[in-house]
Amino acid sequence: MDIKKVAVIGAGTMGAGIAGQVANAGVEIWLLDLPTDSGTDAEGNALGINAVAERGLERLRDPDSPGLMSDAAEANIHIGNIRDDFHQLADCDWVAEAVVERLDIKKDLYKRLDDTCHANAIITSNTSTIPISLLVEDMPKAFQKRFAITHFFNPVRFMRLLELVRGEHTDPAVIDTLDAFCEQRLGKGVVNCADTPGFLGNRVGVYAIQCALHAALDLGLTPPEADALFGRPMGIPKTGVFGLYDLIGIDLMSDVVQSLVNILPDGDAFHAESGVVPLMSEMIANGQTGNKQGKGFYRTYEATNTRYLLDFTTREYNESPRLNLPLAERAEKEGLQVLLEGDGLYGQFAWRVLSRTLTYAASLIPEVGDDPVPVDDAMKLGYNWVQGPFEMIDAIGVDNFIARLEADGQAVPEFLRKAAGSSFYKAEEGELKSLQDSKVWSAITRPEGVVRFTEKRQTLKPENSNEVASWFKLDDVALVEFHSKANALDGDSMALLEDAIQQTSAQGLRGLIIHNDAQHFSCGVNLNGVRDFFRNEDMDGLDGFLNHFQQTVHSMANTDFPVVTAASGMSLGGGFEVVLHSKQVICHANSVTGLVESLVGVVPGGGGCKETLYRWVDQLSCGDDITKAAWKAFMSLGYGRTASSPLLAKKLAMLRPNDTFEMNRDRLFDKAFEAIDNAAGPDSGQVAFNRPALSVPGEAVFHEMVEWLKEHHGKGMFTPHDVVVGTEMARIVTGGEVAVGTVLSEQDFYDAERSSFLRLVATQATRERINTMLDSGKPVRN
Ligand code: NAI
Repeated sequence: MDIKKVAVIGAGTMGAGIAGQVANAGVEIWLLDLPTDSGTDAEGNALGINAVAERGLERLRDPDSPGLMSDAAEANIHIGNIRDDFHQLADCDWVAEAVVERLDIKKDLYKRLDDTCHANAIITSNTSTIPISLLVEDMPKAFQKRFAITHFFNPVRFMRLLELVRGEHTDPAVIDTLDAFCEQRLGKGVVNCADTPGFLGNRVGVYAIQCALHAALDLGLTPPEADALFGRPMGIPKTGVFGLYDLIGIDLMSDVVQSLVNILPDGDAFHAESGVVPLMSEMIANGQTGNKQGKGFYRTYEATNTRYLLDFTTREYNESPRLNLPLAERAEKEGLQVLLEGDGLYGQFAWRVLSRTLTYAASLIPEVGDDPVPVDDAMKLGYNWVQGPFEMIDAIGVDNFIARLEADGQAVPEFLRKAAGSSFYKAEEGELKSLQDSKVWSAITRPEGVVRFTEKRQTLKPENSNEVASWFKLDDVALVEFHSKANALDGDSMALLEDAIQQTSAQGLRGLIIHNDAQHFSCGVNLNGVRDFFRNEDMDGLDGFLNHFQQTVHSMANTDFPVVTAASGMSLGGGFEVVLHSKQVICHANSVTGLVESLVGVVPGGGGCKETLYRWVDQLSCGDDITKAAWKAFMSLGYGRTASSPLLAKKLAMLRPNDTFEMNRDRLFDKAFEAIDNAAGPDSGQVAFNRPALSVPGEAVFHEMVEWLKEHHGKGMFTPHDVVVGTEMARIVTGGEVAVGTVLSEQDFYDAERSSFLRLVATQATRERINTMLDSGKPVRN
């Protein structure tokens, strides 16, 4: 069945989020909540009847976490209430219930839905904890057949995981329809689950968090220490455990733990990690519930950008001391197994958390299924772990792990024993396979067109590789993968890219793809490298690096073969300069793009200023007078603008008309090959850039821009160094102190970028911005 019209009931955190994502997919959607019969808003006006649903919609417009990709998406949403608008559900093909976690309320709704919806309509619940068997126990068989759980994660637009839970009577065709719609149209990584308590993500994820919480408290680790270990070194987001409690809300997390306690069977290991922590009950009573109240385990003072830490003894917030955790640093660089070697408190903490979490995951097979892949997927897509538990065990070494468990007197789960002498995953005959509970190896299958390069890569041998990048040959196409931390780019990244470009040409390959499956395509040039240049006062070296960068991306834009960048996550600064010079871009719908160099006191020096100007010239069809385009480029670069979706990126001239986007990032790889295949087509836009010389507006407009900067500095909007950086940007996009009509070539713009970059790096203020960015994660506003 084709899903053409959808309804969501309950416009709270999850319901509004689901409605937003359905609308982003271009599908008409009704969002209903309870009617509002009384009450006033902040200005004293009577609330409208749909005030609750309206509030849900309003939250989707939050610029800090935009649930909607565009105004066009918002136009797909109708809001209403369950009293006056229930009849609108009669022709909906899918109704997703996302009301409060109360069985009685949900059951009442299902009765009304059974009376109202058409016979083939699919009904799902977003429940986290109530089994299907209970939800539909009073409903007729026909209803049970078209009922499932679609368990989305918050925030819905950005979290990749969707757990699709089938009940005993759910029709397989219903699961297939939901699977295809949620994967292809909503862009989710769908994990099919049985109706077991907590499904997969929360069962393992909340257990891991609880292990880390109790281990830290028992061993007397401070929150920063625990977060530094149960974080990046384990491939877990840096919020760690206490930071994550603050992010989710200490009260909400306590409720989640309690509901898992209620639904998990008595013998489950979860119970041993679920004890109430008196300190946390006290914090909840005091309103110290985390980020939403501005204070939890941590408290950040925005004015000074300082993070304070709750002292568990005095209950006061004190400045958080700087940490020195060599074990964590080594593990982040060298891998997980380093954590097992650590003795002392940190090693004990790491071992306790890892051993319990990984054995718990292994003990769930075969209860939750025969295959480790769904468990690993759930943790990667729902909790943003770099590796799932079984992949972590492989990284440690199965035998190594078992030996350590035995030495420690811990039980070894049966499924873990089955992998003894081997692993849970292996690449064989060009396929990646996983070990099943039956001890059979089975190739990992994904829907057609879904490919994760992290998996694919394991079956390939690179043509050339260094620490930060590799390139592969696939189907006569070269594919470049960046793989440094945050995919920061340096001379080695560019050397690898350059080699792939040259070899694509030399070997007559069909084209070049730049793609990776990391969280971010690339967060920019490695600033540590820039700092090394200025610390050594090696300005010639810095100029050489920039020149190499420019020449590499330039050659990529002007090849006689197709070049496609398939990007997801953030493409910022130098990373975005690579994107800008690809002949065609296919990015994920949640991509964030932009040239944010002004923050650290430099100009984009890898063709970014030049390309921003040329793109505005094209987008505004400027003709001979490019003044308007120069102003647009100046504003975009000066403010370090970013676009939070490809649609916004197009409006900001960051992407071109032939650039496209995909809802599911796991389809980028396949689409990139399709684009190479179709490169000869008229709509592909796959032509060499061949940027013409431009007649620039010159000194008059340059001075206008500088005046504008000074005026805004006078009004307190820009810092002194903002004016200095902005002046360099103005100089590049206008031509600077030259007569109006002076003609500049593309190479002149490249040269201007490098000169401005070097001038700025020579200033103390830019060095201070770079230093504070590298040392504290935030640049100083000087
Ligand atoms: P919420 O409290 O933010 O929103 C619930 C909404 O349901 C409220 O707007 C409320 O007015 C509305 N509501 C209550 N009774 C209703 C009725 N009879 N008809 C229509 N609307 C009604 O709750 P949230 O967090 O959005 O949770 C919704 C569901 O999603 C729950 O089942 C929860 O377990 C589940 N869930 C929550 C997650 C989260 O992170 N918050 C994650 C995954 C699942």
